[in-house]
Amino acid sequence: MKRKTIVVANWKMNGDSVLINTMAERLNSLDISPNVTVFITPSSPYLMMANNAFTHKNINICAQNISQFDSGAYTGEISANMLKDLTINYVIIGHSERRMYYQDTNVIIAEKVKRALSNGITPILCIGETEQQREDGLTEQVLVSQLQAVIDEVGLDKFNNIILSYEPVWAIGSGKTASPEIAQETHACIRNFFSKLNKNISAELSILYGGSVNAENSKKLIAQADIDGVLIGGVSLKVDDFSTICSTL
Ligand code: PGA
Repeated sequence: MKRKTIVVANWKMNGDSVLINTMAERLNSLDISPNVTVFITPSSPYLMMANNAFTHKNINICAQNISQFDSGAYTGEISANMLKDLTINYVIIGHSERRMYYQDTNVIIAEKVKRALSNGITPILCIGETEQQREDGLTEQVLVSQLQAVIDEVGLDKFNNIILSYEPVWAIGSGKTASPEIAQETHACIRNFFSKLNKNISAELSILYGGSVNAENSKKLIAQADIDGVLIGGVSLKVDDFSTICSTL
């Protein structure tokens, strides 16, 4: 089975209404392969504007984070059911910047995944090791513990409705992309972990790569057997580069 190719634009705390309109104008008329699905992930105040602006059938709008709680006195937070109410059907959960700066632990991330799924929202779950962990030979152990926390909370079967993104922390925003070979090796290790638990889930699971992806390296990364797409930060803010990636994959 051929898994679809996924391209996620993670704008982080960047972008504005001008970028939404310029990017939408370019992407809406772009020839994007039917096998490619694009996710635009603006900051939350811009979700609805983006939802209205991007009209290409291959483009979806995605949020960057949700609360682990359903509702209540949590000032500044956004709930999964609010996204659902706004017809936003995707959310990034567990990005390393959330893990690093906002104390999103494995347990909190697992709760967020559960909230998303119970509201019919597909999580794009990010996992990844730090440079030190890789140097210490702990990559597999770290990734498995990040995954196991989510499996323990929501159950393995739910991975039918989860998109994974492997993002080595040392490659994010650093210009140090994992080589296609290193990325493939880690993706294969992740798929193998699932394969031991359930072959169908493993075969169907989309595993994206994130970390200094650009117009030059994206094709080589996606050509790897176990890399099903890319999650792009910095370069996704550049209209020319990002549209080239979307139209050439
Ligand atoms: P980057 O960000 O492409 O700027 O390295 C990647 C990410 O958000 O994971």
